[in-house]
Formats: sequence, structure tokens, C-alpha cells
Amino acid sequence: MATPLVFAHRGASYDLPEHTLAAYLRAIKEGADGLECDVRLSRDGHLVCVHDRRLDRTSNGRGLVSARTLAELDELDYGSWHPGCVPADGDEVLDDSHTRLLTLERLLEAVLAAGRPVRLLVETKHPSRYGGDVERRLVALLRRYGLVEPRPDDPVRVTVMSFSPLAVRRIGALAPALPTVLLLEVLPRWLRLGRLPFGAGIAGPGVGLVRARPTLVPALRAAGNQVYVWTVNEPDDLDLVLAAGVDGVITDRPAQTLARLRR
Ligand code: G3P
Ligand code: CA
Repeated sequence: MATPLVFAHRGASYDLPEHTLAAYLRAIKEGADGLECDVRLSRDGHLVCVHDRRLDRTSNGRGLVSARTLAELDELDYGSWHPGCVPADGDEVLDDSHTRLLTLERLLEAVLAAGRPVRLLVETKHPSRYGGDVERRLVALLRRYGLVEPRPDDPVRVTVMSFSPLAVRRIGALAPALPTVLLLEVLPRWLRLGRLPFGAGIAGPGVGLVRARPTLVPALRAAGNQVYVWTVNEPDDLDLVLAAGVDGVITDRPAQTLARLRR
């Protein structure tokens, strides 16, 4: 069975503050095949890489991300809360890549400068709140970078993910050649374990769901879907998903995962 792709979840986010440029550059340096990031909209319509609706957990700001403009979000510190945001001997010198807001555009520029092909899994948050705007703006940005019709030799190959079937359907309508992942925390009643709906070629179950439903991965794969599992940080979980034969592993700890895969 082929070795799965390894994706760094919010960057190398166990070691460095999630969704910072430093966390993504670390994951690239460690050899991750790809990067995962969450995107949501600032008040003035910019795609920013922040997981939570609120700023409180991962920055020194308070309140909703969507209530602030890009300029306002850019004034905050997104790294100092994290224990990894302290210089250690032999580590890179801390600079604003450890603390500055990351926009999707800044991340794309960094990946394009990486000097090797990198896959990018972009998860759209809150499709219902934004009424389709997040998907429209995402596709417009990717189109500007020539990334809506991925080719194998592209320096960045983007896949869009969502827990929302509506968001997956919107991406399919806006950019039919972009691969999509339907994320699954539980198995919805309406889901049949054949081909996924709305053109999603990849299923994204959580590792808890894979553990609870041992036949899930083989059934999804037998029906022609690929399977990327999140968030696989523990050795037991990695053993489980490798035995299940998944196509991609999404982890906060890419170096540890790659070492266990002996790559
Ligand atoms: O990679 C999928 C995973 O990121 C989904 O959950 O909450 O970490 O965005 P969450
Ligand atoms: Ca995510």
C-alpha cells in the first residue's frame, strides 16, 4: 500500500503557534507533503488564516475575527500565547513570522517561494455565515494565482475542504477542477458510503470516527474516494489509520509522523 501524504495541520502547530508563517515554514522544512489551513473573512473581505470565530485563544485580541478589518487584525500578536514562541538554542531567531497574522495570500506567496512543490488544504469556515462569500473570494484569489485547474507540476496544488456540503457544492460550481474534501466528524444519516456527493473526491473523517467505524475507510476507498484523516497526533492513531490504508494524514506533528513513516 502506498505511503500516505503527510499534511501539517495549521502548520507544525504542536511546536509553533498555529497558522503563523513560522509554523508553515517549519513544516515545509521538515518535509511535509502539504499544509492545512483554515480561512475566514475579515470585516473588509480578506481571507485570513484563523481557526476560531473569536480572536481570544490565539491572539492578544478579543472578539470576533469578522468584526475587524485586515488592518486591525494585522495589529495583533498571534504567537506569544504559544509555549513554542520562545527562542531556543539552535532554533531560528524569533521574528514577526512567529507572531504576525497570516493571510491566505501571504501563505500562498511563502509556499510559492518554498522551492519545492507543496500541497495546500484550505478549509473554509462558516459558509452559512458568509453566504458564499468565502468560497467566491477563495476561488477568485486562487484564479489570480492560476491555481483553479491544478496540474501535477504546479508548485502549489490546492484542495478545498469543508464540513459543509453546501460549501463543497459551491466550490464545485465555481471551480469544477479544484479537488474537494468533505470533512466528517460524525456520519450524517444522509451519507451513503458510495461516491461522495457534490463532486467531493476525498472524504475527511476525524480519527475518532475512523476508530469507531472500522469499516469506514475501506468502504469509502472501495467506492473510489480518497480518504484524508485528521488530526493524527498520537502513535496509536497513526498505526490505526495506516492499517486502514488512508491516502492522507493531517497532523500537528509532521516531523514525528514522517519519522514513523521513515521518510
Ligand atoms: O483538517 C481538518 C480539521 O482541521 C478539521 O477540524 O477544527 O481542526 O478545523 P478543525
Ligand atoms: Ca481545519
